Amino acid sequence: MKIGIIGSGNMGRSLGILWAEQGYQVFFGARTAEKGKAVAEFAGYETQGGTNDEAAAFGDVLLYTARGVDPADVFTSLEILAGKILIDPNNFEIPEDFNYPPIVKSLAETLAEQAPMARVVKAFNTIPLEVFELAPEPLKDYNVSVFVAADDGAAKQTVIQLAQEIGFSPIDSGSLRHARLIEGLADLERFLIIGQKMGAYAVPAINILPSAQTQRLGGRQASALK
Ligand SMILES: NC(=O)c1ccc[n+]([C@@H]2O[C@H](COP(=O)([O-])OP(=O)(O)OC[C@H]3O[C@@H](n4cnc5c(N)ncnc54)[C@H](OP(=O)(O)O)[C@@H]3O)[C@@H](O)[C@H]2O)c1
Repeated sequence: MKIGIIGSGNMGRSLGILWAEQGYQVFFGARTAEKGKAVAEFAGYETQGGTNDEAAAFGDVLLYTARGVDPADVFTSLEILAGKILIDPNNFEIPEDFNYPPIVKSLAETLAEQAPMARVVKAFNTIPLEVFELAPEPLKDYNVSVFVAADDGAAKQTVIQLAQEIGFSPIDSGSLRHARLIEGLADLERFLIIGQKMGAYAVPAINILPSAQTQRLGGRQASALK
């Protein structure tokens, strides 16, 4: 499996290097071939670099880091995305005073509408950059959740595997519509991390707990609520 990075900034560079370390062929794309090549040179592991068009043509899986940018403005032709798994790690810009509006349509759903021939998967948007520096060791000992949502089941399984291989504990989070919830979670995180000054390592995780052996509190009973 080959991986193309669309936009070789912080997320693109970090995830690209982590996947190259796992033995995947990685191509770093950028708006200029010079930048893509420079990032590949920094990354090592025989990675390649060039334009976003070249990265998209190269990869079976693409990481799309150009937040809110219509792919029609990134690629010469949208045909290049046909059948490709398009990972969307994006979050909305943080509004002033963290006054987030409700998410009525996620960035991932918008991307899927803009690139209907691609198989869009939401993932990694709840992971602050600093956490990738811990991957895959010692990260894999900490059960850090990556919430993965997609309408294409096979594409979702591929991204779950890619997350697992670099030390995360991926959680199948259902269809792409649920990206609304996952993007909302990232908004809360950024409020806690930046607004409440808790720092980048305050990452919500679903840890797997042992089942309680008794129900001495009465257990979960029928609720009157809908
Ligand atoms: N940083 C984090 O901690 C973090 C964590 C989770 C999620 N995210 C999300 O991940 C996304 C990327 O974040 P980042 O930190 O990687 O940002 P970044 O370092 O600024 O990188 C963004 C990339 O977007 C590309 N880009 C920007 N405008 C573009 C345009 N008009 N056309 C084509 N490409 C364009 C740039 O490509 P070039 O390479 O061509 O310059 C750049 O590489 C954002 O949505 C962010 O919310 C970030």
